[in-house]
Amino acid sequence: MSPAFPVPLKPVIQPPPMVEEVLSGDERAALKARIKTLMKQQDAVLVAHYYTSADLQDLAEETGGCVSDSLEMARFGHAHPAKTLIVAGVKFMGETAKILNPEKRVVMPDLAADCSLDLACPADEFAAFCDAHPDRLSVVYANTSAAVKARADWVVTSGIAAKIVKHLHRQGHKLLWAPDRHLGDYVRRISGADMILWQGSCVVHEAFKAEALKKLRAEHPNAAVLVHPESPASVIALADVVGSTTQLIDAVRTLPHPEFIVATDNGIFHKMHAAAPGKILIEAPTAGEGATCVSCAHCPWMAMNGLRKLAAVLEKGGNEIHIEESIRARARLSIQKMLDFAADEKAGRIQLGD
Ligand code: 13P
Ligand code: SF4
Repeated sequence: MSPAFPVPLKPVIQPPPMVEEVLSGDERAALKARIKTLMKQQDAVLVAHYYTSADLQDLAEETGGCVSDSLEMARFGHAHPAKTLIVAGVKFMGETAKILNPEKRVVMPDLAADCSLDLACPADEFAAFCDAHPDRLSVVYANTSAAVKARADWVVTSGIAAKIVKHLHRQGHKLLWAPDRHLGDYVRRISGADMILWQGSCVVHEAFKAEALKKLRAEHPNAAVLVHPESPASVIALADVVGSTTQLIDAVRTLPHPEFIVATDNGIFHKMHAAAPGKILIEAPTAGEGATCVSCAHCPWMAMNGLRKLAAVLEKGGNEIHIEESIRARARLSIQKMLDFAADEKAGRIQLGD
């Protein structure tokens, strides 16, 4: 079925150049010590995504913060009593923290750290998409702006998208989905829901190559293939496990395989190595024949986060997230539905079966 609304065929998003922080051992130690002091003085906690640098992930854990997927980042920041939340990740993660915690100061090392999915879904175009389909509930991926979340009926992360869509489908709803076409297509296939998909994509995951992955898998017959669902369907089809970043780390920890081929941002390897020392981790291919990747297996926006920038923010101030109150309050409703659903499901109050 072709949508009545002209969904952008495939928005072209140009990622920024990859610039990763390089520190000497002494610089790293000095920066971490300074940041720890400033965090104590400012009653701050650090919440970092798995794709950020090993330095930020280590600092988060050393200071009582958390390193996690976007769902747990939202939950942890909300439950933590600190007055300042430092979000090391991309803009939508900082915005989600602010939406849930308006009374807290939410800062990020670099406010320009964006996401190709968020950029591909401007709020006015998304509103027109919804207006053209008043008979459908709108479900948006967390990788969207506060304004898009405010217009949506539901917000989901990759860790819970399939469960929520299944639930809505069972209740008889037809859906609009934005912005990730690959995750949307995956969720539509496993839920059987009637969904019209926005056509955004992740510049990192879209670059994984199925043919090269098949060859690599043949060379490593003992390896399990782990795939984040922002990847193309041809890559997902080769997966032993499809899941959010946390679900993929759990797979490395719990599966008996000695080797894993991993189709997601390679920042996750830091945590995977810690979770399962001794297991062999191999990056899924983005290069080779037909290579198109600009930021091969690493997100250039996530790489904008670093210790130097974090120290500067805590010393000089700035880089605070602000969201207009009417947008924040409406976005809160659709995020809260997801958090409530997650809590209900965990407590067995919602049964999804298979
Ligand atoms: P997760 O929710 O799985 O951490 O994914 C966030 C993201 O941006 C993946 O590219
Ligand atoms: Fe966005 Fe992709 Fe970067 Fe995740 S990895 S933040 S989806 S561009």
